Amino acid sequence: MAAAEGTPLYVYSAASLTERYRAMADAFAGYPHALHYALKANSTLAIARLLRELGSAADANSIWEIEVARKAGFTPSNIVFTGVGKSLAELECAVGLGLKAINVESAGELARVEAIAARLGSVARVALRVNPDIDAKSHPHISTGLRINKFGLPVDEARDLLDGLASRPALRLVAVHVHIGSQITTLDPLRRAARLAGDLSSHLISKGVALEYVDLGGGLGVSYDGREVPTPADYVSALVDEVRATRLPIVIEPGRAIAAPSGALVARVIDLKPRTATSEFVVIDAGMTELLRPALYNAFHRIEVVSERGGPVTDYEIVGPVCESSDVVGRDRKLEKLEVGDLVAIRDAGAYGAVMASNYNRRPFPTEVLVEDGAWRVIRRRQTVDDMLALEQ
Ligand SMILES: Cc1ncc(COP(=O)(O)O)c(C=O)c1O
Repeated sequence: MAAAEGTPLYVYSAASLTERYRAMADAFAGYPHALHYALKANSTLAIARLLRELGSAADANSIWEIEVARKAGFTPSNIVFTGVGKSLAELECAVGLGLKAINVESAGELARVEAIAARLGSVARVALRVNPDIDAKSHPHISTGLRINKFGLPVDEARDLLDGLASRPALRLVAVHVHIGSQITTLDPLRRAARLAGDLSSHLISKGVALEYVDLGGGLGVSYDGREVPTPADYVSALVDEVRATRLPIVIEPGRAIAAPSGALVARVIDLKPRTATSEFVVIDAGMTELLRPALYNAFHRIEVVSERGGPVTDYEIVGPVCESSDVVGRDRKLEKLEVGDLVAIRDAGAYGAVMASNYNRRPFPTEVLVEDGAWRVIRRRQTVDDMLALEQ
C-alpha cells in the first residue's frame, strides 16, 4: 500500500468500523434508538457511506458537513445539525431542508431559526442543547459541558426557554440535547448528563410537550494507550438506565468511538539525528499537518514499527517535518532501531485525523485508503499542488 500510494497515508478498516458501529447499536438491545454518526470525526465520503449502509444516521456540524452527508446518501430527516456557531446562511439552508433537528445552542439562535421558519411559512424542528455544568474529566480543549464552556444553554435559562416554546408556532421542540465533551473515559459524567436530559424531558412531557426523543450527544472515549475504557455496552446501558423512565427513544452522536481505532496513519522515516546522550530524533513524513492531535492537545498515540527487524530498542522523539517545535508526534518512545525509509504506523488516527489536516507548509492532504474484504482501495487521492492552486488567482 505505502509502496503504491506513498506516505503519509491514512489506512482505514471497514471491518473495524462495522464492528464498532454494530457493538454500539446492538448494545441498545431493543431499546428504541438512533445512532447519528458524528461526521466531524471523519467525513471522508466512503466512510460516511459505509456508516449509512450500516444503518447510521448523521450528526453534522456545519452546512458543509450536511452537504457531504447528503452526498453520502443521508436524507435530511436523518441528519441532526449541531454546532455552537451556525451562521444565518447555514440556518436558512437547514430550516429549508427540514432536518430531523437543528440542535439550538442559544436563545438568539432559537429566535433566528424561528424568524426564518416563520418567513418560509414552515415549522422548524429544534432540539435545545443544555449545558449541564458537568466536568467530563477529559482534556480541557475537548470538554464542552461546563458552564464556562461556550456550548449550549445553562440549565436555568434552558428551562425558561423550553417552558415558553409552546406559544411559538414556527418552532417544534422535538428533543432536549446534551453533549459534554469528547474522549470521556469515565461513565459517571455521561450518566449525570443523561439524567439531567432525562429529567428535563420528563418535566416537559408532564407539561404536555410531545417530545420525540432525547439526544445524549457523543463523547465516549477510546483507549489511546491500551488502558481499559468503558465498553459500548457499559456506556449504552448507563444511558438507557438514566432515561428509561421517559420512554423516549435515545439519539446518540458517537464519532471517535467508532472511527478512531479504525484508522492508522502510516508514515516513513525520513531522517534520524542525535538528540540527547540517550535519545535520537526520528523525523517522519507525517506531522501536525496530517495529525494535529499531538500538537493541539498533547495527545498520545501509540506508534509502531510496521516491519519489525527485532533490533535493539532505542529512545526516540518522533517528530514531523513541519517548521514548528510543537510538531512532535510521539515523545520519549522506545522503538526498535529505525533506519531511514522504515515505515511506522500511528495508531487510532481514524477520528479527528484527516479531518483536521491542513496545507501548512503547502503540504498536501494525504491519500486515504479503505481496507475491505481483504482488498484495499483509495477513497481519497493525495492532493496535488495544482489542486491547492486551483483556488488561487
Ligand atoms: C455536539 C457533538 N456531538 C457529537 C460529537 C462527537 O463526539 P465524539 O467523537 O467524542 O463521540 C461532538 C464532538 O465533540 C459534538 O460536539
